[in-house]
Amino acid sequence: MTKSYNASLLPYNTFGMDVKASLFAEYETLAELQTLLADEDIIRLMNQQREKGELPFWHIGSGSNLLFKGDYPGVVLHCLSRGISLLNDQGLIEVQAGTTWDDVCQWCVDHSLYGAENLSLIPGETGAGAVQNIGAYGVEIKDLIKEVVCWDVEASCVCRLSCEDMQYGYRASLLKQPDAKSRYIVTSVILQLQTTPVFHLEYAGLKQALAEIPSPTLQDVRNAVIAIRQGKLPDPKVLGNAGSFFKNPVVARSAYEHLPHYDVSDELIKVPAGWLIEQCGWKGKTVGRAGVYEKQSLVLVNRGGARPEEIIYLCQEIVKSVKEKFGIDIEPEVNLI
Ligand code: EPU
Repeated sequence: MTKSYNASLLPYNTFGMDVKASLFAEYETLAELQTLLADEDIIRLMNQQREKGELPFWHIGSGSNLLFKGDYPGVVLHCLSRGISLLNDQGLIEVQAGTTWDDVCQWCVDHSLYGAENLSLIPGETGAGAVQNIGAYGVEIKDLIKEVVCWDVEASCVCRLSCEDMQYGYRASLLKQPDAKSRYIVTSVILQLQTTPVFHLEYAGLKQALAEIPSPTLQDVRNAVIAIRQGKLPDPKVLGNAGSFFKNPVVARSAYEHLPHYDVSDELIKVPAGWLIEQCGWKGKTVGRAGVYEKQSLVLVNRGGARPEEIIYLCQEIVKSVKEKFGIDIEPEVNLI
């Protein structure tokens, strides 16, 4: 367990923002988390935040889906508990919240468990993935989730939220709503994988990448997904970013069916925000030290030493121009803190 004051968050956000937290604490076990939540300084800072109408604390994963808007005047928590265990021989596994998600994907491949391979190489930790409902290439983590095990900060007990309790939607869950976010801390996630082959190869790029392989294996699918991601998305170690900066907007089919889209329902479609942004001329553009990635306009990047306000300014300009050209509101997918 560690606790540091006025701590730099630079190593804890993939956007590479050099901001500070009033207090940053890491824990490995539930007992350590309980100790931290009973710590005088932490309680004081949490109360200060509550009085300002803010969330009492912010719990991060690996910081791959957030943008700190400036120094954070409160408590940032991070779970260091890692590990994966097989709960039965039917593909039920328990993953500790701090486990790197891609390690889970590789572990599933190594254990011939199907279902997580399309989610390969998504950055971040498993607890955060369950909160965010990470998704790619036709699969979302909710499709695998049986239960999310949490520490209930208000009732001081362990609480098991079922997949239904989690109220999952597109990049949305119960744990993204402020009341629940300040109450539950994910400690582990129970996933149900399949023991027999079930692949989701509908995504055109994936189908194409595997066209030459007559019966792809789990590792083949994982490798194809990794190659697609590496071809389109910047490596945060090289160029600071937080993956898709915006969500794909869900709009009325009747008004927007002429645009490229994914089907959501009879009435609704999802338009790729990356396409909308590219049409507005932003692809590859740089404003100050912030920029729009050359190969995928959905990704905003830190070209080196950008301050949060530079990324936010670029975000606002993009939102404005998409609204002007298409009449569509796009909103950030990353957490702005
Ligand atoms: N497109 C453009 N220009 C661009 C970017 C995209 O025209 O600059 C077009 C593409 O040609 C394609 C369509 O938009 O026809 C969709 O692009 P892509 O397949 O890259 O997927 P996306 O809708 O932009 C979503 C997720 C990604 C996920 C991919 C694959 C969101 C916000 N993003 O992106 O998730 O990897 O689908 O399933 O839903 C993330 O969340 O960080 C992330 C990377």
